[in-house]
Amino acid sequence: MGVIERDPHTGHGTTGHEWNGIKELNTRVPWPVWTFLILTFGFSVVWWILMPAWPLGTTYSKGLLGVDVRQVVSASLKSAAEERAAWTSQIDQKDYAAIQADDALMKDVRATGHALFGDNCAACHGLAARGGPGFPNLTDHDWLWGGTPEAISETIRVGVNSEDPDSRVSQMPPWGSNGALDRPSLLAVVSYVHSLSHPGAGADAAQLAAGKEVFAKNCAACHGPEAKGNPEVGAPDLTDDTWLYGGDLQSIYTTVYGGREGHMPTWQARLSDTERKILTLYVLDIGKSAP
Ligand code: HEC
Ligand code: HEC
Repeated sequence: MGVIERDPHTGHGTTGHEWNGIKELNTRVPWPVWTFLILTFGFSVVWWILMPAWPLGTTYSKGLLGVDVRQVVSASLKSAAEERAAWTSQIDQKDYAAIQADDALMKDVRATGHALFGDNCAACHGLAARGGPGFPNLTDHDWLWGGTPEAISETIRVGVNSEDPDSRVSQMPPWGSNGALDRPSLLAVVSYVHSLSHPGAGADAAQLAAGKEVFAKNCAACHGPEAKGNPEVGAPDLTDDTWLYGGDLQSIYTTVYGGREGHMPTWQARLSDTERKILTLYVLDIGKSAP
């Protein structure tokens, strides 16, 4: 008792614990650990004195530096809101042409529009707004519903075939599935429509003439006598070889046989007037730089 047993190899005392002949050495805590503990403790004492630290019932120790992180955050939020209000109020007040001519404003439109488009529109129209089958390309200068700022902002406001009471209504009726056209007429009009953008693609003249007749009777009301489309009813130009649902014979047949009703949501309730105006400007802007 009381006699410290020393390890013959290292000269350290042991703790007196032994496991199967192995004894635990009683070595000192290494100096880097002490240094680290002392430095960090010293730092925390200084920090307690300088910065807000201890809860004291209803208040807290404020610290000699008087730093208040909450104030810093609310001040920076306030200045960000003021900065934003300064340019968004210009967006609200100015007309489209004036904003488009203002490089500084258009810079904000591009940054904010890109984020808004990514959050709300890219799922259908693609991040670059180039669309895909069933979803129109918004950069190709080819508009179903008109490409003026007013027409575009109205499309975004009310949507197409949406639940909005003012929604644009897009109805490409089915002509085959409900028997409105018999099979020869259907095939003829499909060849005719295909030939409008693929002249000399092989269909015989008699069939094209028959298709033209079917078209004049059934399709021209919406697509126009020259098949150039009509933005009033969202009917596409069928002569320009730009296709929403595909321009090969099979895709055209599928469209005409079964009809199409594209659906574009209404953004009236989900985006503010300012946000929709920014998106209109953004869509026009990316179209301008696209080929
Ligand atoms: C759920 C899919 C979907 C989402 C989300 C969507 N769109 Fe659309 N959008 C469509 C479809 C489909 C059409 C074509 C409707 C038709 O057939 O007439 C369309 C049409 C449009 C048009 C008219 C194009 C033309 O040629 O006239 C514009 C402009 C437009 N979208 C902008 C937007 C913007 C801006 C957003 C985001 C706020 C958005 N869209 C979100 C599906 C969508
Ligand atoms: C009531 C108006 C209406 C009539 C009548 C009509 N269409 Fe359409 N058509 C539309 C609309 C609207 C669209 C666009 C559908 C959409 O965006 O979902 C369309 C789309 C199409 C497309 C797809 C174009 C593309 O870009 O992919 C083809 C092809 C077409 N119509 C052919 C015809 C033919 C052929 C007839 C006659 C047999 C016809 N349409 C009659 C309104 C009409």
